[in-house]
Amino acid sequence: MLQNLAADQQRVGQLMSSLLSDLTITDPRLLDAMQYSLLLGGKRLRPFLVYSVGRMLGAELTDLDGPAAAIECLHTYSLIHDDLPAMDDDDLRRGKPTCHKAFDEATAILAGDALQTLAFDILAHHPYQHVDTSRQLQLLRELARQSGYHGMCGGQAIDLAHTNKTMSLAALEHMHQLKTGALIQCAVKLGWLCSKDEKPQHLNALQSYASAIGLAFQVQDDILDIEGDTATLGKPQGSDLEANKVTYPALMGLEPARKKAEELVAQAQQALHTLPYDTTELAALASYVIARKF
Ligand code: IPE
Ligand code: IPE
Ligand code: MG
Ligand code: MG
Ligand code: MG
Repeated sequence: MLQNLAADQQRVGQLMSSLLSDLTITDPRLLDAMQYSLLLGGKRLRPFLVYSVGRMLGAELTDLDGPAAAIECLHTYSLIHDDLPAMDDDDLRRGKPTCHKAFDEATAILAGDALQTLAFDILAHHPYQHVDTSRQLQLLRELARQSGYHGMCGGQAIDLAHTNKTMSLAALEHMHQLKTGALIQCAVKLGWLCSKDEKPQHLNALQSYASAIGLAFQVQDDILDIEGDTATLGKPQGSDLEANKVTYPALMGLEPARKKAEELVAQAQQALHTLPYDTTELAALASYVIARKF
């Protein structure tokens, strides 16, 4: 059902690799750190969402390349910073030492910063064929909004502020929607913006889908922190427990957390039913979000 996943992963991987090799070298070590974190591993789930939504809506694959590469750069930056000693203090990411372990903290901070700005550079300079300038501006606004204070960064701040504390289920849901859901919602919106679909009800349905799988993705991430294994995860199992993070299983228990994830996937599938397109791939992706083992 996810037949296109491998090809999409390869496609965005090649594009990101060539974008990085095209950069004029200012500091070779910084570029090494960017390549190390961006190119060696990762599921490429957000690029896949961009391609999948765009493909469904008849967007050009070549137009989707820019947003797909951009969101993966932004996501990778968020992972590099998330692993820093000042944040989650983790040593393993994507099956390898984290960026600050393989290089050093200052280089990891800068590699994250440079990948973040590269994301906007890619979005702004991509040679679009069928995305007009007003839509191009919306692509930039969407990525800025969902990655910054009102999105991922805001969620990360709430996460850090509640380490060793507790919060209500509603507050936890809000935090997860920001720290993880925002970029997943962004991926869906970027795919939509590259298409010619003008119907607000279609965008609404896609946003409901995105919101449900975005939350489900982090609930499953929380579950995997408990029942996954480090080798499969490619990141340290038990990191949340050790840092005393508020998670779905911590707050409601493992079984209710699993049930919550299943309900969210059902909600996502429901939202797809209203769309007059072939939603097979997006439906399969929703199921994958909670079936995944890493
Ligand atoms: C990990 O994201 C961080 C979260 C938002 C939970 P992914 O599970 O998508 O990580 P990669 O990109 O595959 O490494
Ligand atoms: C991370 O949440 C969300 C972002 C990186 C924005 P986690 O801290 O749970 O992600 P992992 O488990 O380290 O991948
Ligand atoms: Mg974290
Ligand atoms: Mg973390
Ligand atoms: Mg986690």
